[in-house]
Amino acid sequence: MLSDRSRPVIEATLPAVGENIQEIARRFYQHMFDAHPELLDGLFNRGNQAEGTQQVALAGSVAAFASALVQTPEQVPERLLARIAHKHVSLGLRPEHYDIVHEHLFWAIVDVLGDAVTPEVAAAWDEVYWLMAYALINQERGLYSARGVRPDTVWRDWRVEDKRQETADVVTFRVKRMDDRLVKTSLPGQYVTVKVLMPDGVHQPRQYSLTRADDGEHRQFSVKRVHGNDKPDGEVSNLLVQTVDVGDVLTMSLPFGDVVLDDSGRPVVFISAGIGVTPMAGMISHLVHAGSHLPITVLHADSAEKSFPLRRQIVDDVRSLPNGSVHVWYEQEAASDLPVDSVHNGMMDIGQVDLPDGAAYYLCGPLPFMQAVRSALIERGVPARDIQYEVFGPDLWQADLLTERAPGAAAGAPTSA
Ligand SMILES: Cc1cc2nc3c(=O)[nH]c(=O)nc-3n(C[C@H](O)[C@H](O)[C@H](O)COP(=O)(O)OP(=O)(O)OC[C@H]3O[C@@H](n4cnc5c(N)ncnc54)[C@H](O)[C@@H]3O)c2cc1C
Ligand code: HEM
Repeated sequence: MLSDRSRPVIEATLPAVGENIQEIARRFYQHMFDAHPELLDGLFNRGNQAEGTQQVALAGSVAAFASALVQTPEQVPERLLARIAHKHVSLGLRPEHYDIVHEHLFWAIVDVLGDAVTPEVAAAWDEVYWLMAYALINQERGLYSARGVRPDTVWRDWRVEDKRQETADVVTFRVKRMDDRLVKTSLPGQYVTVKVLMPDGVHQPRQYSLTRADDGEHRQFSVKRVHGNDKPDGEVSNLLVQTVDVGDVLTMSLPFGDVVLDDSGRPVVFISAGIGVTPMAGMISHLVHAGSHLPITVLHADSAEKSFPLRRQIVDDVRSLPNGSVHVWYEQEAASDLPVDSVHNGMMDIGQVDLPDGAAYYLCGPLPFMQAVRSALIERGVPARDIQYEVFGPDLWQADLLTERAPGAAAGAPTSA
């Protein structure tokens, strides 16, 4: 809760900070990495830095949190904090890192806003920072202790047991534990961070969703090669797909992630496009292992059947469920060799299929796809709280939804990547 002294100061300065927060975030990262280049080795994702998406996500989240403090002080933006905390712990973040961020963020605020940052303004924003930081530190401490690990013990080595070409661009890795220690369980829908050594000697972490239910010995994930087209090719996805082979060792974090299967016994609808099918595959596999009798509806969009990753696993899993159905949309064709319930040509149109009442919805795919599907669901009367989504990158959407809900609040992130 923000103090009475700071609230009017934050209200008065939120528009100025909001307007400049992306520039603040940009200078903050530059200054922090100049002072602490080690943070770029194994912690920060340099692809997201180059694209500017992490800067926008950080800026949007701080603006959303400050807006929430002044507009809806009784409601903590829990989804926003949970998403960040899970990402942080999947990278082994430590509480002392928050002092480093504090120092450089406040340097950047003064650098951008200059004389407007009076001692009173600095103290009020300091309070916002530490309220957010302690909320995150506490959640992160809880996540580490629930899994029985410390920041430096989230990592473990796994041996690649199988590597399978799914589509022209997607490869599935199955890795096996290398010692007798118990494999920590995952919740359906969670991801691991894979940390690899790049050819220039720098470690780079990336998240990959688990695509199979736990069996106590293995983990499975699928990687899509990112083609740069006019930009550089994705460095980790290409390295994994091209150079990592059966017998190699991969360093991976424990599973984390806040978008997990609802276990309240409601029907579930999974809606994905392209590689966004991976968390759905993991959740469907868990439902099969649990012997679920719930109505499960799977909707997937892809350019063609041959580019639908994990299609055999998913269709086999859905067919083995007593109450499952699967519907596909292909941009280039309207035919399927798989035992699906319906196949459609073109972009996904949820109006073409029946959806169960009272379902929990999970979305994953490119941001414009998820935004269109979410709008269509809301149009059909699905409550917003029943729709969860996973973003394969820093979430530029959630902070925006929050700042939209807080009238008069500073602008956060743009709505698409
Ligand atoms: C929760 C979560 C789950 C995920 N699950 C999966 C999954 O199951 N499967 C999967 O395949 N992926 C998944 N991802 C995405 C994955 O983590 C990586 O982001 C993806 O593999 C790309 O990583 P990369 O290193 O290959 O690309 P990067 O090298 O990080 O590049 C990313 C983008 O930045 C651009 N870029 C890089 N350098 C520059 C530059 N200097 N200038 C301009 N642009 C640049 C690239 O062209 C590319 O478009 C997930 C992500 C998250 C957050
Ligand atoms: C109050 C302080 C902080 C805020 C508000 C914050 C906010 C965020 C946000 C919004 C994301 C993106 C989450 C997502 O959608 O995936 C993120 C990711 C991340 N944060 Fe923080 N963070 C804070 C502190 C820190 C600290 C102290 C560090 C370490 C020095 C750190 C390192 C990271 C890293 C490495 C990522 C992943 C980056 C990426 O994948 O590009 N953060 N943080």
